[in-house]
Amino acid sequence: MSAFDLATLRRLDQAHHLHPFTDHRAMHQDGTHVVRRAKGCTLYDEDGRELLDGLAGLWCVNVGYGRDEIAEAVAAQMREVAYYPSFFDTTTEPAIRLAARLASRAPAHLQHTIFSNSGSEANETALKLIRAYWKLRGRSAKSKLLSRSFAYHGVGIATTSLTGLPTCTDPFDLPLPGFVHVPGPHAYGSGKSAEEYAAWCLAETEQAIAREGADTIAAMFVEPVQGAGGVIVPPPGHLAALRALCRRHEILFVADEVITGFGRLGAWFASVLWELEPDLLTTAKGITSGYLPLGATLVSDEIAAALEAGGYLAHGFTYTGHPATCAAALANLDILEREKLVERVRDDVGPRFQAALRKMAEHPLVAEARGFGLIGALELRRPPRGPRADAPPNALGLAAHVLAREEGVIVRGIRDAVALSPPLVVTHDEMDRMFAALTRALDRL
Ligand SMILES: Cc1ncc(COP(=O)(O)O)c(C=O)c1O
Repeated sequence: MSAFDLATLRRLDQAHHLHPFTDHRAMHQDGTHVVRRAKGCTLYDEDGRELLDGLAGLWCVNVGYGRDEIAEAVAAQMREVAYYPSFFDTTTEPAIRLAARLASRAPAHLQHTIFSNSGSEANETALKLIRAYWKLRGRSAKSKLLSRSFAYHGVGIATTSLTGLPTCTDPFDLPLPGFVHVPGPHAYGSGKSAEEYAAWCLAETEQAIAREGADTIAAMFVEPVQGAGGVIVPPPGHLAALRALCRRHEILFVADEVITGFGRLGAWFASVLWELEPDLLTTAKGITSGYLPLGATLVSDEIAAALEAGGYLAHGFTYTGHPATCAAALANLDILEREKLVERVRDDVGPRFQAALRKMAEHPLVAEARGFGLIGALELRRPPRGPRADAPPNALGLAAHVLAREEGVIVRGIRDAVALSPPLVVTHDEMDRMFAALTRALDRL
């Protein structure tokens, strides 16, 4: 299909293309990795080499690659009406149908959706709706935001400010004032059990609320499983306790389900699975399985009623409710439902994946295995000898990622951990091959 050979692509890439989240000098030294084709869980790179995608793109290609059905739905919509906005009093059919479809899967009190183009925009939208809501209620003083260490909520100025990862905030001198970070429930290395550590996090959050004043805090943002921060799974009951704490202090609770939505945990939403009853729920990624960019912010009936009564809602992107992306989402949801992929994660591949992940803890370099459903991470320890015996802190994940790719599987390196979240269609055989390749990579570490 491509008229460009790899050398030309690499030259043009180096000359003109800035990549997101990339060390450009290192990349151009080694040569950009170009993916040519993808089908199911398999990527085919520039040399025709096959790689198993253990990360589903960026935790998003839930139905796997190469689904003609989605491509055809998008093409048909583009022929019908390629684009028309949802501004003012107009919209298109796919946007309406998708909003209704989400309402049928979301927690019962979240019946309204406003669309955007990404997870970051879904969260930025949530932030603005929250400000508007409190202002309409005459409580503009409620403007501060709570989020947790290890959180990842996006790359806008405000969503970076919510993000609890210094690698994301420090280069930009963020967070902005008014963004308050409390500890996330990452017990690893603390010497405490997961439950003890989570109880401490809860107490710290309560103290932060008392210190800042509940009257000044608008909302708390929470990823049910913290993904980019290292796949941090809270102990049972922790999120419900956090939610109750927010409710007691009239702090809106926002579930960021950009990763956890659409089946990753074996449920349509973590908020349903763990009965979180969030005031807002943001999502993206798996809503289209990454076939086209789409974000969604679901709001409670109470907030929707306040906003609707409040008059003109001056928010929205040119492509809010884009008909082609909504058509992609509808076709994607059709596949998830017809092939029962959410149930498949809950009953079959999820438990099998978690068992294989836990088995990896027998490897001498694995210090901890953690995960839920079809997402997991292995925390690595430094090898006693060899080239990485003196590896600097937080370098093992990237090293393991490079070796794993050489062994034929894509994983994500996060500090000293590797993360996995394969497409929900992953077969047993593919899963076995992923873990075998990862084991070979760790043996070489
Ligand atoms: C939990 C969470 N929220 C928000 C985002 C941002 O989404 P996007 O990259 O689509 O802007 C991500 C992306 O990884 C995410 O994992």
